[in-house]
Amino acid sequence: MERETGTTGDGIRDGVDGDGETSRPKADQGGGPSRKTVLRAAAAVGMSLPVALMGVPALARTAGERGVAPEATPACDDGDDPTPPQMEGPYFKPNSPRRTSLLQPGTPGVRLTVTGYVFGRACRPIPRVLMDFWQADTYGTYDNTGFRFRGHQFTDAGGAFRLTTIVPGLYPGRTRHLHVKVQAPGRPVLTTQLYFPGEPRNNTDPLFDARLLMNVRTVGNAKEADFDFVLNVPQPPGSHPAGH
Ligand SMILES: [Fe+2]
Repeated sequence: MERETGTTGDGIRDGVDGDGETSRPKADQGGGPSRKTVLRAAAAVGMSLPVALMGVPALARTAGERGVAPEATPACDDGDDPTPPQMEGPYFKPNSPRRTSLLQPGTPGVRLTVTGYVFGRACRPIPRVLMDFWQADTYGTYDNTGFRFRGHQFTDAGGAFRLTTIVPGLYPGRTRHLHVKVQAPGRPVLTTQLYFPGEPRNNTDPLFDARLLMNVRTVGNAKEADFDFVLNVPQPPGSHPAGH
């Protein structure tokens, strides 16, 4: 049950992301994202390996390379498997303000920045991707009358995004999470959620998916998180967007 998000007013639509992809846009061994991203990728793969080995539906790449040593270091977070979708939930609202910071004066809560990239299937970053975030406040409450802790932004020319917010509070039945809709220009919307490592409720929330764990660091009194999205967007091999 998807509905119009209307965030950009240009026909944004919710759709199925992961639609039986069979091609294998591999062999992207050069000109990928930064070394930092690759290092981050290695860590992410290591963390999610048990999940990858346990009956996650075999995507094309997994099936084709089972039992074979990886031929190249993936240039995005978990090879070229697209970021999995998750349910929208009851608290999405269209028409969020365009802003990269959800902080308002006096907002209580632990400061959180989330950074990362949005990649296509060939692990190249995608510019101008719409990212619409929404989350609970520090008390676990969503603002359903206004737009507190709701905002959309677009990835820059290098496919990067940066969200400034607070760590969302807990509410009954769920572990700690952020909601986001991600839409490359002219492509279907990916609706998903991001999670925090080390949360006790990660073990009991049936929606929790380790593939959607952010890397989170504590810096002083604040948290810094990163996560790279992979959209099911075909990309021809060999193109090299500016900056990467
Ligand atoms: Fe939620």
